[in-house]
Amino acid sequence: MSDMTKPVEDLTEAEAAAELARLAAEIAENDRLYHLQDAPKISDADYDAMRLRNAAIEARFPELVRSDSPSLKVGATPSAAFTQVVHAVPMLSLDNVFTDGDVLDFIASVRRFLAWPADQELVFTAEPKIDGLSMSLRYENRRLVTAATRGDGTTGENVTANIRTIAEIPQHLPADAPDVVEVRGEVYMRRDDFFALNQRMAETGQVFANPRNSAAGSLRQKDPEVTRSRPLKFFAYAWGETSDPLGETQYDVVQRFGQWGFAINGLMARCKSIEEILEHYLGIEEQRSELPYDIDGVVYKVDRLDLQERLGFRSRSPRWATAHKFAAEKATTVLTGIDIQVGRTGALTPVARLHPVTVGGVVVTNATLHNEDYIRGIGNSGQPIRDGRDIRVGDTVLVQRAGDVIPQILDVVLEKRPADAQPYVFPDRCPVCHSHAVREEGEAVRRCTGGLICAAQAVERLRHFVSRNALDIEGLGEKQIEFFFNAEDRALSIRSPADIFTLKARQATSLTKLENIEGFGAVSVRKLFAAIDDRRQVEFSRFLFGLGIRHVGETNAKRIARHFLSFTAFRATAESAVMPEGKGDPGNAAWQELNGINGIGAVVAEAVVEFFAEEHNQQVLNALLAEVTPLDEQPVGQVSSPVAGKTVVFTGALERMSRDEAKAMAEKFGAKVAGSVSKKTDLVVAGPGAGSKLKLATELGIEVIDEDAWFERVGRN
Ligand code: IVH
Repeated sequence: MSDMTKPVEDLTEAEAAAELARLAAEIAENDRLYHLQDAPKISDADYDAMRLRNAAIEARFPELVRSDSPSLKVGATPSAAFTQVVHAVPMLSLDNVFTDGDVLDFIASVRRFLAWPADQELVFTAEPKIDGLSMSLRYENRRLVTAATRGDGTTGENVTANIRTIAEIPQHLPADAPDVVEVRGEVYMRRDDFFALNQRMAETGQVFANPRNSAAGSLRQKDPEVTRSRPLKFFAYAWGETSDPLGETQYDVVQRFGQWGFAINGLMARCKSIEEILEHYLGIEEQRSELPYDIDGVVYKVDRLDLQERLGFRSRSPRWATAHKFAAEKATTVLTGIDIQVGRTGALTPVARLHPVTVGGVVVTNATLHNEDYIRGIGNSGQPIRDGRDIRVGDTVLVQRAGDVIPQILDVVLEKRPADAQPYVFPDRCPVCHSHAVREEGEAVRRCTGGLICAAQAVERLRHFVSRNALDIEGLGEKQIEFFFNAEDRALSIRSPADIFTLKARQATSLTKLENIEGFGAVSVRKLFAAIDDRRQVEFSRFLFGLGIRHVGETNAKRIARHFLSFTAFRATAESAVMPEGKGDPGNAAWQELNGINGIGAVVAEAVVEFFAEEHNQQVLNALLAEVTPLDEQPVGQVSSPVAGKTVVFTGALERMSRDEAKAMAEKFGAKVAGSVSKKTDLVVAGPGAGSKLKLATELGIEVIDEDAWFERVGRN
């Protein structure tokens, strides 16, 4: 046991650090004995004393809190497997903005999209962004039937039994509520309740890092009675499916929730101008520390619901709302080292190793350093580090953490720089395969030129392939991929994506069995093979995203899948595309098709074409397609509208909507929007001043209508 004799007040910093290390190790060891082997070696009282001492030292030396500190371990991770709930209306997230200028831009973009005249009033609501977890409460015939977490936005976890224990959530709605309504909002824990809970829990050895984790942990309990004993609360601020409209404005609907018995936030206000918005933001920020609950910003929403409807959504967030985050929290600590990571595309990324420090309730041990210029303190336009100040190992640095983003180093405290600190020399060779690492002109990143021979890149590509938004193969994490990649035995080795799917067959005929290898075991091997087999058929967009083609992220993969519907069709087009050679050259038809997909530009199209032109990629892909079938995408044209599946061109001045809105609206009704008229065009919507496009359309005999007729056709007047 630690020497726990010296009073905490008398400890020097060095003694405190040493003791925290010892306590972390001893508590972890006792946890292991207690939980895994049911064989505690010390009394509960001694164990509690260790935890209390750990907490007391941390309270006196917050900068010494270790990343493996027992105080940061969330209480027993519940093994409860909750059933899944598919949200009737997806639960989206919000875009973030940070500066007054960003807020101005947000308002301007809303006005532009709606073609809203500068002199016409546009009202926004402004309300605190609660730091909890979002929840969707479904009421049918005015009775609470399902409560679901956000999950990935499409599918969440069914936590109904636990939610029913929260006193602040009504089980029934009054008679004026519609037959179906999903009330959404935030489950949270008050700060004082969180502290009290942690004190109670300290005796049991489980504490939470912050109120948010505490709320999440308390909600995700297998036993609803445990949830009942936790002081959870709920604010209603949004909604999902409803069988009847709830009102005309955001503000009114939320007030109605209040009348139905939900708690609503008292700091919600209507603001008519940017000045009012920013004033309200400052007002909330000033009260932040006195509020009984944690908030991390202010959310602005367009008040009128008909306008929200017109504005619609981008892929993950509404166009009609944004979150104005509070300035990030900062702390200083020592940079103990710089590691270089090699990414999927060979980019060498420097990562700062930091002496653990608590920033905004979370222990930070790593921070991004972006690239070599950043470390040298040059050319950091748009980046936060002060120009001209280099970063050296041994430096005391100012670290910032904002929301979920990776911590950043903002500045160096030069007065504290050790006399012998040396400027950092960025490697010109890949730390993994030792190939030259070069920087192309105009590029900030240095890349390993090892390409296919670089193990780091290959491992990263595999990790990407099995990751959550790609093939999503459970049981193949970072560690397993590294193991299989480095396995020399043919029966175990995974070097390219297809190998994942042949693993089981190779295992069947081999004497080296995975289940005999440490860390696997029969059950996990069976589960792994099942998870792999489960992905022999996979959505087109996931498959494409998994290939890791440059610039083809999730959104672009979805765009491409929605356009081509089948992987075969996409591949045929990508392989036959001929890129333009010079300025006037439009490229061939296949190139134009790729390049013309909504949201896809020349950079992405070029990356796609180059990917398929590479012989090695073709081999990898063919081997993979022998094992895996990308499923055809279902056409979005299920939206039965008179324009579904049609190609529409807008030309001339539009008076009732902006170009962006016209495009979004057409897409919503299942039409494709093209920029120019061709034989493939089905419909031209022409406003005043239409010129050559209108002329060409008439020549080609294409149907031409005006803006009003367009609204009539899609049934929106
Ligand atoms: S509105 C479609 N309002 O922030 C937009 N969200 O970053 C629905 N959040 O997942 C969200 N307070 O969990 C909204 N007053 C508030 C909020 C709020 C907290 C959370 C919510 C959401 C996340 C998005």
